[in-house]
Amino acid sequence: MRLDQVSDQWWKDAIVYCLDVRAFLDTDGDGVGDLNGVMGRMDYMAELGVTCLWLMPFQPSPLRDGGYDISDHYGVDPRLGTLGDFVELVRAANDRGLRVISDLVVNHTSDQHPWFQDSRSSADSPKRGWYVWRDEPSDEPEGLAFPGKEDSNWTKDAEAAQYYLHRFYHFEPDLDTANAEVREEIARIVGFWLALGVAGFRIDAVPAMLETAGLPERVANDPRDWLRDLRAFVSRRRGDAMLLGEVNVDPQQLAQYFGDHGDLLHLEFAFLLNQSLWLSLARGEADPLETMVRMLPQVPPDSGWATFLRNHDELTLDKLSVAQRREVFGAFGPEEHMQLYGHGIRRRAAPMLDGDPDRLRLAWSLTFSLPGTPVLLYGDEIGLGENLAIEDRYAVRVPMQWSNERHAGFTTADEPVRPLAEGQFGPERVNVAAQRRDPDSLLQWMRRLVWCRRERPELGWGSVTLVDTAPPSIFAHRSDWEGRTLVAVHNLGEEPTSVTLALGEDVVGVEDVLEARELKGGKGGRLDVELGRYGYLWLDLDRARGGG
Ligand code: NOJ
Repeated sequence: MRLDQVSDQWWKDAIVYCLDVRAFLDTDGDGVGDLNGVMGRMDYMAELGVTCLWLMPFQPSPLRDGGYDISDHYGVDPRLGTLGDFVELVRAANDRGLRVISDLVVNHTSDQHPWFQDSRSSADSPKRGWYVWRDEPSDEPEGLAFPGKEDSNWTKDAEAAQYYLHRFYHFEPDLDTANAEVREEIARIVGFWLALGVAGFRIDAVPAMLETAGLPERVANDPRDWLRDLRAFVSRRRGDAMLLGEVNVDPQQLAQYFGDHGDLLHLEFAFLLNQSLWLSLARGEADPLETMVRMLPQVPPDSGWATFLRNHDELTLDKLSVAQRREVFGAFGPEEHMQLYGHGIRRRAAPMLDGDPDRLRLAWSLTFSLPGTPVLLYGDEIGLGENLAIEDRYAVRVPMQWSNERHAGFTTADEPVRPLAEGQFGPERVNVAAQRRDPDSLLQWMRRLVWCRRERPELGWGSVTLVDTAPPSIFAHRSDWEGRTLVAVHNLGEEPTSVTLALGEDVVGVEDVLEARELKGGKGGRLDVELGRYGYLWLDLDRARGGG
């Protein structure tokens, strides 16, 4: 297979950059970031090397859930710009070889959405069946997305005199995705944004959207058939469009969202890998991550994982045991106000790792070398911090820090949309302008990492095997694809460690990819390497047969 023949599967080795438009750059002085601001920083993102921008919801919204409570799926929040600006943004991105994907939030709407207003108004409303109404609340579906914030998935609406389903906040009523009209409308929304140029969607809350427990009508209309139809529709409208699903479920349930032949989601966020990664970081031991790599289902050839270190929500640790979760809390979010919902940490990567450059680079190197497509949260490339004075998950969605000017160059308004990070992570110490000038900065290093990742398609396409090494702190794995092999070695511990790697007898040379230098040794298959405190190495193997 030649890479130029699979460019329609660009998402297999894309580097995705997630950004909250409201917190990126304000160009009209109202304190809120806007689409123009994203356009104004297009060269910054192209230079960083990311290849795909994921725009978090920018549609009209009462903003009770950071925009995930959409009140018009066909519009742009006027504070952020217009549909015209959106199209210009997509063009500006495409001009630089960047694709744009948007969130697709159709598990629910805002309760202010005209559909819901209509639905609640009368039992005879044509929109009544667009939401899930019951005379009595049900025990199903089980579990709560936001324990402590909501105590049931059902809320009584006084106007409708019935209960409605909401898997998330009570102001986010769930659409009935078994309803044929709702399915048609979702296809229309998808078709609309594809026509405006998006290259795919990050689909919000996929399991909830396909939920059948307690919803018999959904069982009759198999939700997976619907997702398959939606995927087929998307691909008909735009052949290379990608669906990236938010799927945080147990290991045995993951495969079903790829479909039997990879005909559902193209990518799934690797939540389980992420949770094990943080447990490994907390312990300084490879074992949790290795166990998870072994446990993950085989991904169909035309699908993949989307890997990440942190995202725009809390770091969810819900799939760890109570004791394991306690370990991660203890290491990275020890104070109660750093925690959320009893299972998450509302901090960014840089403060969690104490701003320690060695440990941060280790964590990023590891994230970018794991099997899949890396997703980077805006600002993490400069080590942006959080502001815990901001409630809920918004603590991590602080304004981007462009310079050490007032409000970090984010806005000229008196008040930015959210307060900035402070102290060690405030704009005087952490900003793009200063890191651009400093060859040793995290930003410059991240750029190198991103570009190295781009040059190593085997990381996105290859098959992954763990490489045995004795020291418990060492995580080593190799990706093989089309005669190319990359071995990545990471020292999760603070102690410098020597490792002997068995690389295979056909190895005739080894290059250190991140430092771009030949390594001595390795011929005949064994290589001794020294890894410093939180050290990391990407090794390109030159093999007698195949070659790269
Ligand atoms: C996942 C989103 O990432 C989160 O921010 C949101 O609250 C829920 N889905 C509900 O849309």
